[in-house]
Amino acid sequence: MRSFVDTTDFSKEELLDIINLGLVIKENLKQGYPLNVLYHKTLGMIFEQTSTRTRCSFETAMTQLGGHAQYLAPGQIQLGAHEDLRDTAHVLSRLVDILMARVNRHESIETLAREATVPVINGMSDYNHPTQEMGDVTTIFEHMPEGKTFEDLKIVFVGDSTQVCASLLMIVTKLGGHFVQFGPKGYQLGEKYLRVADKNCQESGGSYLITDNCDEALKDADFVYTDVWYGLYDKELSKDERMQIFYPKYQVTTEMLQKASPNVKFMHCLPATRGEEVTDEVMDGDHSIILDEAENRLTSIRALLVYFMGMKDITLEICNKNLGRK
Ligand code: CP
Repeated sequence: MRSFVDTTDFSKEELLDIINLGLVIKENLKQGYPLNVLYHKTLGMIFEQTSTRTRCSFETAMTQLGGHAQYLAPGQIQLGAHEDLRDTAHVLSRLVDILMARVNRHESIETLAREATVPVINGMSDYNHPTQEMGDVTTIFEHMPEGKTFEDLKIVFVGDSTQVCASLLMIVTKLGGHFVQFGPKGYQLGEKYLRVADKNCQESGGSYLITDNCDEALKDADFVYTDVWYGLYDKELSKDERMQIFYPKYQVTTEMLQKASPNVKFMHCLPATRGEEVTDEVMDGDHSIILDEAENRLTSIRALLVYFMGMKDITLEICNKNLGRK
């Protein structure tokens, strides 16, 4: 059974196929055509942590596609307290048609994917956040600078090497784009991610740069992306600690964006800590595409659900017919 644990397990063509599927479904629904391709199917959603965008996107997607989602929150199922993850995977495989999980440790999502007999989608771990990146690339395609292709793009991540930063590196290099992390030493992406990026770049012609030089990083950037500074899991930093490390050099400001391409777009996976990694002026300004980005969590998650439930071809057939496309 194929699962979605890491974009690295998929070819460039497969990832682009899923992104395109998401855009076609989005257009179909925007035009008001119902799409019940997951009629009576059930998604089990395991959350070891809180979530707004990921949880709502999966649940809304299942409703829109004619199915149902079960929210399996910490403390509400036996997982972690009275039941081994392998047993949970075996049992839920008999009770639902597909699973997603947001987990504390990446090995948990790997175990779920290995043990379950239904597809498993990674809703974020301490290693990566692949559904975020599928939505982000969807957003980048929708805001592609005129005359450019993905391979021409310079996509700059500012700040801490969070799992969103790592996932962005992995998908941008997979698709042949140019990725930069502008971050302080000690908070830059490590070897385990750079090895993946090296392999991706050899195959795709993409590139990456890790630097603490602002001018070099921002020059000609098409997209500037940031994430929170507080760190996750066991690496959480106090406000004083993180401000000392990242502020003011790594805060995305209007002045910083002026170093990039004149039409630069600002992205953030959200939630944001306004006044830390980004100013209000940038969050709410003309360059910001953060709400399109949040909406495209739903776009890409609908596509992932359809794809991993084996409904891609029939969905494309229905949507293309509805939209009058060949
Ligand atoms: N970006 C993201 O994953 O948001 P949530 O934590 O709210 O799901």
